Amino acid sequence: EIPNPPLPLVDGSIKLVNNPSHPFIPAGPDDIRGPCPALNTLASHGYLPRNGIARPDQIVTAVMEGLNLGNDFAKFLAYQAFLMNGNPFTNLMSIGMKTPETGEDPPLPAQVGGLSQHGTFEGDTSMTRLDAFFGDQAAFNEDLFQGFIATSAEYGFNGTYDINAAAELRYQRLQDSILTNPELVFNSPRIISAYSEAVFPTIFFVDGRLNNRQLTMDAARHFFDFQMMPADFHRQPAPVNFTMVDPLTKAIFDKHPFSPGSNQGVNNFVLQPETPPLADFCGIYHDIALRVVPDQYPNPTGYLREALNKNLGFLFDAVNTEHNCIQAFPYGSD
Ligand code: HEM
Ligand code: MG
Repeated sequence: EIPNPPLPLVDGSIKLVNNPSHPFIPAGPDDIRGPCPALNTLASHGYLPRNGIARPDQIVTAVMEGLNLGNDFAKFLAYQAFLMNGNPFTNLMSIGMKTPETGEDPPLPAQVGGLSQHGTFEGDTSMTRLDAFFGDQAAFNEDLFQGFIATSAEYGFNGTYDINAAAELRYQRLQDSILTNPELVFNSPRIISAYSEAVFPTIFFVDGRLNNRQLTMDAARHFFDFQMMPADFHRQPAPVNFTMVDPLTKAIFDKHPFSPGSNQGVNNFVLQPETPPLADFCGIYHDIALRVVPDQYPNPTGYLREALNKNLGFLFDAVNTEHNCIQAFPYGSD
């Protein structure tokens, strides 16, 4: 009874997505929001269940429909997150904090922590959220957003958040955490989300009619802080897949290359050469499938194993089309 991943949109063209059938309604006291400005916004417009609890296939549909993510890219993000933060028994995941609303947990060491769970998908050096060491890693932080504005003013075209601003802000956030966070971790799989999330706003938060990769501060304020699409917002004019995102990610990385590692005390960034670098996409996929998931599910049996294998298969399908990785089977293939 696990639904198959959704197919690509039949009509992937530009569309008014802040529309009357998807009105903004602010999250109520029982609605969960988390560290991802896009998913928060999609929940507040009803593309996702407004309570913030969703199946991975619903997340795929929401990001395709609401922001025009390509099918493979949407599946890569959604199934990766689900394997780290969701409940494979009930097929539900919280887009924020851990909650009983996702049903009875599988046995420890499984976390089912929701997207806010630190040290899984969520990690350090976020642009508008604190490192978990300093406070709430899921909540929008105004001081950090002022830094986002300042960096955009200094490096972005006309004060917008563009690819140059993205490269500098990513670098600054990492340097800042190296200097101040004794528990900084910056390695696989966090590195891939850190760099792609720096690029995402220059694509998906820009109105598809303009589509100039220059995010205004007003639109940024809407998505990051208000969790709201700007009035009259149109999604991207065509589905955006790895082929679009990968070169941009590489471009910001190449401006300030780094090697994965973690702090052992402040200003003591120790490299971890045995972990895959950002350029090794399949290495990161293997790290997720063979280390990160089995850390939480060391020895699954019965339905749990079946559900994990299905979701691992969906994840592989998502990476297989545009990255030729060898499929990893942590629990054997059926
Ligand atoms: C951050 C999950 C799609 C934009 C995050 C984080 C998670 C997450 C767990 C926290 C990482 C961190 O900063 O520590 C997901 C999942 C998605 C998804 C499961 C499923 C499809 C998107 C899309 C966008 C997006 C479509 C488009 C703009 C961002 C941005 C951040 C972020 C900009 C960084 C926030 C910051 O650094 O302050 N996402 N995301 N995400 N996400 Fe998403
Ligand atoms: Mg974070």
